[in-house]
Amino acid sequence: MERRRRSICTVVAAAVAVAAMVAVMPAGVAADLSPDYYKASCPRLESIVRYEVSRKINETVVTIPAVLRLFFHDCVVTGCDASALISSPHDDAEKDAPDNMSLAGDGFDTVNRVKAAVESACPGVVSCADILALAARDVVSLASGPSWPVELGRLDGLVSRASDVDGQLPGPDMHVNKLAAVFDRHGLSVRDLVALSGAHTVGFAHCTRFAGRLYNHSAGEPTDPSMNKDYAAQLMEACPRDVGKTIAVNMDPVSPIVFDNVYYTNLVNGLGLFTSDQVLYADASTRDTVKDFAADQAAFFEAFVSSMVKLGRLGVKAGKDGEVRRVCTAFNH
Ligand code: HEM
Ligand SMILES: *[C@@H]1O[C@H](CO)[C@@H](O)[C@H](O)[C@H]1NC(C)=O
Ligand SMILES: *[C@@H]1O[C@H](CO)[C@@H](O)[C@H](O)[C@H]1NC(C)=O
Ligand SMILES: *[C@@H]1O[C@H](CO)[C@@H](O)[C@H](O)[C@H]1NC(C)=O
Repeated sequence: MERRRRSICTVVAAAVAVAAMVAVMPAGVAADLSPDYYKASCPRLESIVRYEVSRKINETVVTIPAVLRLFFHDCVVTGCDASALISSPHDDAEKDAPDNMSLAGDGFDTVNRVKAAVESACPGVVSCADILALAARDVVSLASGPSWPVELGRLDGLVSRASDVDGQLPGPDMHVNKLAAVFDRHGLSVRDLVALSGAHTVGFAHCTRFAGRLYNHSAGEPTDPSMNKDYAAQLMEACPRDVGKTIAVNMDPVSPIVFDNVYYTNLVNGLGLFTSDQVLYADASTRDTVKDFAADQAAFFEAFVSSMVKLGRLGVKAGKDGEVRRVCTAFNH
């Protein structure tokens, strides 16, 4: 944890740069969702969310990756319904599943704080699922990434089970065919896979998630040869063999908390952290997209926005399948 703090404080200033506006709205907007959903019922919603997210980022820049990853995990497990936010007294909710693997507490804290601010302006109106979707957009844009109109109108789910997480999330050791299969299960394409993986341009990973690439690649070759040798040496220094679970490193060693296309230039240079990152360049089916995004940040931003909107439509709850929670960590009843 100490190590994590020190590695990020030098780059705080970069995270608050003003974002570029990218107005992309893919065709076929889901019937119930609209960026204007709360226009009458909570007119100041977006500025409240942005203010609270900005305040939280100023306290800790870890907020940026924590919120973005939380949105992804929530959406791929039983849909974007804030089920990932439920705290169970029995430790059997989604957030307790082994696969949550260190979802950072600052993501949860951000949503809870924004919700409290939104409740005092418009009580009982705005769902936690929508707040998470807005916060995910805001962390990206406040980290110098793109911005986009967020579709709204999701209800919060009525179920949160650790067992629902099994098999829904991709793993860092997966190759493209496996990753593509996991994404396909959620109606997300190979292009969505490549674009959304660009989220790894911000944030941290624990040594245990990639140590196999450093020390245990194969019998004759302990270090994965697709990894840049200097990078591998740096990672071995940061993550000695058998290191505890607490040490984390930047996932983008070049610009760790700026939302940019450097993730893709890193892949071209053998600086992908996980197998699941580096294979996007190694595999012929995804390499050209990686090269396009490495060469053209605007192309990456446009694809990322379009894939985030798609991600935000997964498993949206309506009618009696949902509610607007009073607090994001608990069901109303
Ligand atoms: C393509 C398959 C993916 C795999 C295999 C994967 C796996 C992982 C793993 C293992 C970590 C490190 C967790 C830790 O050690 O603490 C991580 C972190 C992260 N992931 Fe992914 N992920 C994938 C896709 C995504 C997507 C689609 C997003 C968001 C759109 C995302 C956003 C993040 C962020 C922001 C972090 C940093 C979290 C933090 O610093 O708190 N990932 N991912
Ligand atoms: C966060 O910091 C930035 C840069 O110093 C500042 O412009 C912004 O107003 C701050 N946000 C809040 C909510 O205080
Ligand atoms: C994730 O799950 C583990 C148990 O596998 C639990 O100890 C941890 O608190 C959970 N993380 C969060 C943020 O709830
Ligand atoms: C090293 O890799 C092998 C084969 O994948 C695996 O069976 C073994 O458990 C790994 N060892 C460690 C220490 O992770």
